[in-house]
Amino acid sequence: LKFVCVSNDGVDEHMIWLVGLKNIFARQLPNMPKEYIVRLVMDRNHKSVMVIRRNLVVGGITYRPYTSQKFGEIAFCAITADEQVKGYGTRLMNHLKQHARDVDGLTHFLTYADNNAVGYFVKQGFTKEIYLEKERWQGYIKDYDGGILMECKIDPKLPYTN
Ligand code: ACO
Repeated sequence: LKFVCVSNDGVDEHMIWLVGLKNIFARQLPNMPKEYIVRLVMDRNHKSVMVIRRNLVVGGITYRPYTSQKFGEIAFCAITADEQVKGYGTRLMNHLKQHARDVDGLTHFLTYADNNAVGYFVKQGFTKEIYLEKERWQGYIKDYDGGILMECKIDPKLPYTN
């Protein structure tokens, strides 16, 4: 089992994983247009943290780091159907936080959470209260109805992974 963070860099193995992740998102997020999922997963401004087991993608999170603003926007998050509620989603989020802090230099995450995923995000430390100053994110993230804007502050020191 391994956790990787990749973007569309043309490396064969990375592209195969990104296609696998795109397929999981398409299945797990049926309200999202498939073209929109492909566009963001393959967009070079986005990165994807993935769980890989026996060289197959179990799930992942695609996000866009806004390094000048020090926050990241989570676009999609999903675990493949038969592997949900086994703790992968939590481990994935911890790897994302560690990578975003130590590699991207981010302090916060924002996401529009689906109603049925709010419980998962709350358990990962997200709140419906937005403490981040509006000037830092307004105009950067697009309004999206059918979701609830949630925020997570990344601890500056906590070891999120082992
Ligand atoms: N609602 C409430 N609680 C949840 C949900 C949920 N939908 N999913 C998991 N949890 C809880 C678990 O019970 C667990 O609680 P515990 O720590 O008290 O035992 C905790 O959250 C973590 O569970 P994991 O096993 O780590 O979560 P999982 O591996 O299933 O991943 C995820 C969670 C990503 C939401 C997964 O269930 C999934 O892919 N769901 C379908 C797609 C989806 O809804 N994605 C999010 C859409 S919003 C967005 O993408 C921005």
